[in-house]
Amino acid sequence: MDLTLKIWRQANVDEDGKIVNYSISDVSPDMSFLEMMDMHNEQLINKGEDPVAFDHDCREGICGMCSMFINGEAHGPDRLVTTCQLHMRKFKDGDTIVIEPFRANAFPVIKDLAVDRSAFDRIQQAGGFISVNTSGNTQDANAIPIEKHDADKAFDAATCIGCGACVASCKNASAMLFVSAKVSQYSLLPQGKVEATDRVLNMVKQMDEEGFGNCTNTGACEVECPKGISLENVARMNSEYLYASLKG
Ligand code: SF4
Ligand code: FES
Repeated sequence: MDLTLKIWRQANVDEDGKIVNYSISDVSPDMSFLEMMDMHNEQLINKGEDPVAFDHDCREGICGMCSMFINGEAHGPDRLVTTCQLHMRKFKDGDTIVIEPFRANAFPVIKDLAVDRSAFDRIQQAGGFISVNTSGNTQDANAIPIEKHDADKAFDAATCIGCGACVASCKNASAMLFVSAKVSQYSLLPQGKVEATDRVLNMVKQMDEEGFGNCTNTGACEVECPKGISLENVARMNSEYLYASLKG
């Protein structure tokens, strides 16, 4: 396939960025999107030009690093996949592909397509954990009976990989889907109920301080989430937050 790539180039957070047009030839439909980007970067390097900066690590849909906004959609046109799992067979010969970073005030551009998502780390650090005794006599988690329905829902919430597609897809740049997945992952389990009140209050406080917008129930986040995280988690977090606020 021969393609036209329109890629956002930005030297750093302080400089203005712009879309730059490139042509690329002989792209195999069996390549992953990131392999196509690697091929493009090799061509830029061979010409003595600056390669396009983009995040990636596992390349198998686990780490959440590959953050690209492709033709107006986070992670591109496929469903329930990350950018690294997107294949070029989803495009056709002669296509123009617009590639941008995940845009949000809380995700400043580091360079080109790489954005700083450390705001997510700070939200996680504010409460996304349980306190356990690690002195050597820790109770085996499997010894605690958990209702199957709750275990399944907690597991589904725990599949959030923190990619930020929900934020990039939201007109308000809201992080509610991400934060609600992290809150739900623990609040549904007995081990997480002990610190549930502080957790939801602290994580929501940090989310607001980071500058993410509020949720207006549009649902774009749920559509673009590569892990199928449900809006039901946002409803659960809202109810947990209300309860925790009243409890004081
Ligand atoms: S909720 Fe989905 S889109 Fe948002 S960070 Fe988690 S995996 Fe990514
Ligand atoms: S590179 Fe790890 S999820 Fe895409």
